Amino acid sequence: MSRSYFVQGGVRLDGEIEVTGAKNSVLKLMAIALMATGRTTLTNCPDIADIEAMAAVLRLLGCEVEVAGDVVTIDTPEEISNEATDKAVQKLRASVCVLGALVGRTGGAVVAMPGGDAIGNRPLDMHQRGLNHLGAETHMDHGRVVARAEKLTGAEYRLTFPSVGATETFVMAAALAEGKSVLSNAAREPEISDICELLSKMGAKITGAGTSTIEIEGVPELSPVSHRVIGDRIVGATWAFGAVMTRGDLTITGVDPMHMHVALEKLRGAGAEIEVLGPKSIHVVQEKQPLAIYTQTMPFPGFPTDLQPMAIALAAVSKGMSVVTENIFESRFRFVEEMVRMGADAETDGHHAKIVGRDRLDSATVWASDIRAGAGLVLAAMCADGESEVCEVHHIERGYPEFIENVRSLGGIIRAAEELV
Ligand code: UD1
Repeated sequence: MSRSYFVQGGVRLDGEIEVTGAKNSVLKLMAIALMATGRTTLTNCPDIADIEAMAAVLRLLGCEVEVAGDVVTIDTPEEISNEATDKAVQKLRASVCVLGALVGRTGGAVVAMPGGDAIGNRPLDMHQRGLNHLGAETHMDHGRVVARAEKLTGAEYRLTFPSVGATETFVMAAALAEGKSVLSNAAREPEISDICELLSKMGAKITGAGTSTIEIEGVPELSPVSHRVIGDRIVGATWAFGAVMTRGDLTITGVDPMHMHVALEKLRGAGAEIEVLGPKSIHVVQEKQPLAIYTQTMPFPGFPTDLQPMAIALAAVSKGMSVVTENIFESRFRFVEEMVRMGADAETDGHHAKIVGRDRLDSATVWASDIRAGAGLVLAAMCADGESEVCEVHHIERGYPEFIENVRSLGGIIRAAEELV
């Protein structure tokens, strides 16, 4: 079964949109619930398919999980399994984050190598090396990561690149190790701070989250708590790009504008008027055709790789020549081929994309290859001359809650269709 969206071009996004919790935070917070016996409650959870996929992984490990509206409740028993090898695991890229939680809690784990986005090679070497530093032996076995430790002991570890996932794996395992750990060149993404905040509320001793050096003093056990997930900065910024591309007028709430700082600066550079209305509220207006942008993806606080498709889609309808450079994932330019189907004047050279903007794109049938590329194609379709079909939209639904409803509430014209393939 394949699902498509049919999207009408020539519309202008206008109105107010409230953004819910961050996908890249909530999935890790759910994994952390494995580390404490009892009931962990997460609020402000987004209504996305990946939450059910993660719930299936946790159930496999012995937890009871209930998803009710924006509240996810996880009951973790005293004894949990540490083998996450089912198909459910391979469905979900973020399932790798149970690795650190399981090793911390049980001293071992067997986790099937995840599937997920088609955006390039996603090795786990830094995750494994972090666990090795803490005293675990790790190896790959028929597509599964196997980790075993007699005892976890605090250690110093320097990442060769500030990987989000490897930072999370190390912090989770170190939280229940004996003694002090120091992680340097750590990722600084807001989701890392959110994860460390939950762990701290549960009793972990962590300082430096949000900086390049995170110190963790291990504790013997953690207690379950309630926690509100931070707003999704990628979803918030996606709508901001939509406002600028369609020359619209949007108020976006629920996300800290500082978490979107570089993206918003790029949009200002393209001619947007952006006003910060409050700690979680911005207003974005674009009057004229946007101007070309130059941007390169970098770890936070740089321009996020997850917004690279939006940058290319914006460039395709902007005045002049833009250059977008991808520094994080090697295969993330498949999106450009789809934009070319829509008449974009774009070409890639290694990890650079050069785009000469046009006033309007051509409607076309295009394919979403991952969550963010899918959202970028819908934004592009809203700037085309007729109705476009965006295929394989299950990707979009993995990461954007109530996507169709949201587009419609802002004035977009979109409908979903299913077909048997
Ligand atoms: C997370 C996000 C993803 C985002 C990315 C970068 C989740 C579920 N996903 O992915 O949406 O695009 O951060 O902001 O939170 N690498 C290695 N070895 C490792 C680990 C990573 O070489 O052991 C490389 C990757 O191949 C990639 C780079 O490091 O080139 C960054 O990856 P990383 O920051 O780990 O991304 P994820 O945690 O997978």
